[in-house]
Amino acid sequence: MTIPLPTRDDHFSFGMWTVNWPAGDQFGPATRSLMDPVHIVRKLSEIGAWGITFHDDDLVPFGTPDAERERIIAEFEAVLAETGIVCEMVTTNTFSHPVFKDGAFTSNDRAVRRYGLRKVLRNVDLAARLGATTFVMWGGREGAEYDTSKDYHAALDRYAEGIDTVAAYIKAQGYGLRIALEPKPNEPRGDILLPTVGHALGFIARLDNADIVGLNPEVGHEQMACLNYTAGIAQALWCGKLFHIDLNGQKSIKYDQDLVFGHGDLMSAFGTVDLLENGFPNGGPMYTGARHFDYKPSRTESEEGVWQSAQANMTMYLLLKERAQAFRADPEVKDLLVSTGVIGLAEPTLAEGETLESFIADRSVYEAVDPDLLAQRGYGFVRLNEIATEYVLGARL
Ligand code: GCO
Ligand code: MN
Ligand code: MN
Repeated sequence: MTIPLPTRDDHFSFGMWTVNWPAGDQFGPATRSLMDPVHIVRKLSEIGAWGITFHDDDLVPFGTPDAERERIIAEFEAVLAETGIVCEMVTTNTFSHPVFKDGAFTSNDRAVRRYGLRKVLRNVDLAARLGATTFVMWGGREGAEYDTSKDYHAALDRYAEGIDTVAAYIKAQGYGLRIALEPKPNEPRGDILLPTVGHALGFIARLDNADIVGLNPEVGHEQMACLNYTAGIAQALWCGKLFHIDLNGQKSIKYDQDLVFGHGDLMSAFGTVDLLENGFPNGGPMYTGARHFDYKPSRTESEEGVWQSAQANMTMYLLLKERAQAFRADPEVKDLLVSTGVIGLAEPTLAEGETLESFIADRSVYEAVDPDLLAQRGYGFVRLNEIATEYVLGARL
């Protein structure tokens, strides 16, 4: 088997904070030095990536004077033009500086809320200037350690007010940006607001500017909550809210590991790529945005390992894409999708034009049915999944 190489058409993008994570953790200092943004863009271009994303503070360190900020941004724009790397998404850091220790939009301190909102609006301007189409908002510090310390009702009101204000600003400026909220259950806060895809979808539905607010679900974050990532992004697609994705790897419920995509739950990664590339078996909305990686090169790696791990994300995605396409094209799989009822699920339960009255009156639906007989059907799901694993393992090509 040959290892596929990424091209720009694959739309792979990386957070600047991913490859540039110096790998300091709670137990020890950094093991790598910070790299220059210009070098990062050139390297990403070299390894076949298409896009880059960043937090304001990744590019321009917090507190940089205006003139210096402008110089850094201009230099960044120049290297984007030189390489053709696209800045597809921008996000704001409202979690590192101590001022945000109780959150930004939901801090109990109103002056902090106003400061955080202003920082985000400033960065919306930068996102628009760089031609980004998505503005991600991950509220890592919007949460609490203790139930006694937060009025959750008021916090959700303030969160909604903040997001709606940013969305209103985007609309007023005529920017071609959509907001993508990123759920996470915990870390760094004991509990974070909008912990899962489901919570965030319910929240978005209550916003005044819900039309330009969607989601940026991350593999590891759903898995930290013991949830199924593929099912989560499927529901976001069903709601028309899958605006962006953060791909990475996670092994079960523990701290946020941010491993290389597929280096956690491989079969789940297969399911994700199958959905992203092949869509729902019965058809439906497709995700067309960036294949964005939000991982951390392990603390054990040198700079060489950083770029190898970045490549590993893309290779994994492309291999799974090949496997998923072969799986769907297999005649046995096609038959099984029908015999297992996967394909039939698209057929509405009520017939066209059938009234509730005639449905209830139809004795063949209920009274004449022997449920024990109906229960005898075996679905054959295990066989279907076995074939999927044979593709993943390269036993079938
Ligand atoms: C995390 C998050 C972040 C966000 C980023 C973009 O767990 O640290 O995934 O990496 O994705 O802040 O908003
Ligand atoms: Mn994460
Ligand atoms: Mn993320």
